[in-house]
Amino acid sequence: MKPRGLVVRAALEQDLPFLRKMLYEAANRPGAPWPAFEVSMEEARNRRFWSGWMRVGDIGVVAEDDAVPVGAAWIRRFAGEELSAIDDPEVPVLAIAVERDYRGCGVGGLLMDALIEHARASGISAISLTTGLFNDAAVRLYRSRQRVGSRADHARFPALGGRTADLACAVAGTTR
Ligand SMILES: CC(C)(COP(=O)(O)OP(=O)(O)OC[C@H]1O[C@@H](n2cnc3c(N)ncnc32)[C@H](O)[C@@H]1OP(=O)(O)O)[C@@H](O)C(=O)NCCC(=O)NCCS
Repeated sequence: MKPRGLVVRAALEQDLPFLRKMLYEAANRPGAPWPAFEVSMEEARNRRFWSGWMRVGDIGVVAEDDAVPVGAAWIRRFAGEELSAIDDPEVPVLAIAVERDYRGCGVGGLLMDALIEHARASGISAISLTTGLFNDAAVRLYRSRQRVGSRADHARFPALGGRTADLACAVAGTTR
């Protein structure tokens, strides 16, 4: 679908239901069976992306086409039990998804660029970007936003063993 009147705005507290909808898309792999929506949202790896939205430090953007949300990207720092083995408590982690009908026409790129600008304005110098190598669109999107000087995935995740190969890119420095 070709967006008609695309606008990217800052995410608000009331965007939580849409963010969860987008997280469901981001968290579940095409071609594999997906858990029910609420089950997926309660998985610890997913719950940490939305629980308590918006808390201090949360930054997000929503793309709307004719005032209808069609995509979202947001970052959040994790703490305590939310931290996985690959997370750095100082580096916020990205979640991003675009409605299926709108994919492949630049919405993801607009979201990433807007989010990076918001992050930079808030003094954030790096964002953690992680995806599976099977995810061609996310890999291209993340690689294109990696900045010179960003830390490479294998440098950042030495302890991951086999999983390292699944990570396309790790940190996009937000300084040019
Ligand atoms: C990943 C995602 C957010 C990208 O958003 P999008 O609006 O489709 O992306 P864009 O149209 O801005 O394209 C971004 C890049 O990916 C490329 N791309 C888009 N769709 C692609 C596809 N199906 N296969 C290969 N590359 C693709 C584009 O050519 C572009 O690359 P370029 O900048 O080198 O030209 C979107 O596909 C999506 O929502 N996927 C499901 C959720 C998800 O996987 N989230 C990330 C989880 S880690």
